[in-house]
Amino acid sequence: MMLYIGVDLGTSAVKLLLMDEQGSIRNMVTRAYPLEFPHPGWSQQNPADWREAVLEGIPALLAGFDRSQVAGIGAGGQMHGLVVLDEHDQVIRPAILWNDGRTAKQVEYLNNQIGKGQLSQWTANIAFAGFTAPKLLWMRENEPELFARIHKIMLPKDYINYVLTGVHATDYSDASGMLLLDVEHKCWCRPMLELCGIRESQMPKLLESYMPVGTLLPEIAARLDLPETVVVAAGAGDNAAAAVGTGTVGEGGCNISLGTSGTIFISSEHFRVDANNALHAFAHADGGYHLMGCMLSAASCNKWLMEDIYHTTDYAAEQAGITDGKLGNNHVYFLPYLMGERSPINDTNARGTFIGMTMDTTRQDLTQAVLEGVAFAIRDSFAVAQSLGIAITKSKICGGGAKSPLWKKILANVLNIELECVASEQGPGLGGAMLAMVACGAYPTVKAACQALVQVSEVIRPEPELARRYDGRYNQFRQIYPACRQLFQQLQQ
Ligand code: XUL
Repeated sequence: MMLYIGVDLGTSAVKLLLMDEQGSIRNMVTRAYPLEFPHPGWSQQNPADWREAVLEGIPALLAGFDRSQVAGIGAGGQMHGLVVLDEHDQVIRPAILWNDGRTAKQVEYLNNQIGKGQLSQWTANIAFAGFTAPKLLWMRENEPELFARIHKIMLPKDYINYVLTGVHATDYSDASGMLLLDVEHKCWCRPMLELCGIRESQMPKLLESYMPVGTLLPEIAARLDLPETVVVAAGAGDNAAAAVGTGTVGEGGCNISLGTSGTIFISSEHFRVDANNALHAFAHADGGYHLMGCMLSAASCNKWLMEDIYHTTDYAAEQAGITDGKLGNNHVYFLPYLMGERSPINDTNARGTFIGMTMDTTRQDLTQAVLEGVAFAIRDSFAVAQSLGIAITKSKICGGGAKSPLWKKILANVLNIELECVASEQGPGLGGAMLAMVACGAYPTVKAACQALVQVSEVIRPEPELARRYDGRYNQFRQIYPACRQLFQQLQQ
């Protein structure tokens, strides 16, 4: 019996899982690490914290198991984070994360001076604050001495793969989010590298997600007490890995993730691009492509309200009083832009906002408004996909927020589609382990691994009357941000 380790290198913690070849999850371990917000809207993490969390977590994960059975490791990682190494492979500065908004000026330069059309032609995408290229421009402008020391550039999970194998590599799905990849042709985009003052030799090697990066370095194998033959797969960006974990591969699949970020992920066998670039056009971990809308704060909005504002961790108790009669009838709205927003509005100045409160507004109404506000904001990206002629009648769902039956019901009705939950919903970690299985030859393709290992366990169906009520509410919601946009900008000055 072979065993595979899946790594979900998230924003709040690394979640490790141990999967056997039948796809059963045998153990799980989580190691949290700090997240720094050195200025409002900035977001950083120390790659050494990721490394230690993974290297301490793996032995805990394997306690009581036969380590000689471990065949492979595969990771899904938070995307877009800029990790820079010097010529001795030492980390130069804290990683600037996917939800960091410091690059507004660089994004404006890229989208307006270089031009969205040109960027899209080169990379299939336009600039968003969290993407990696604007961060390189920011570093060159604000930290020139550190920028001059850059020897290698990588993404968060690639740094972990480097620690494990000594190889500098990345995969196409994650590389797509750098704005440095020619996504359609799957190669580094020379003009973009030049524009950022980067040589191709500073970039990691490009691989498909299911290909091996290498095997464990002897000192790592010794520290983890694992065979040196353990294969490390290239892995994927967390959304592509989560999509693999829910079986969202090939043509026409859809997956929604309610994690720290909220994403809607539409898989495709063929490359295509959103003419307005509101959705990202990225490569997928199955060898194909996907379109994706990403909102920066999803389950994190609810976590913020519960833990930072209400000082509770009993989320279910807060949701218990939100009964069916209240759904679709809330007079309070919430704009979930606690970190600014990416898809589809691309506005680093946007902020979280409650609107519509009266003297009879309750704590529960605010909780409900947050759950609904996130669902409405996902519908914004869903509507963009519909406008491209993509018909979505059902979607898989994953991520921490999907543990709430109430939130799933709200989302199914706001989108008016069926939501399918899978039996072992472990998002990126599960997908990572499945990619490791393919890298080890246990399955010939990612699709074959999904067919063998993923099962739908529950379907949430929209209710026509409730979906109709939510349609009306959504039409109100969508007027709030345009009315506030100028104000958000002025408030930042
Ligand atoms: C996707 C994105 C987020 C992070 C979260 O573009 O930025 O979903 O990957 O970890």
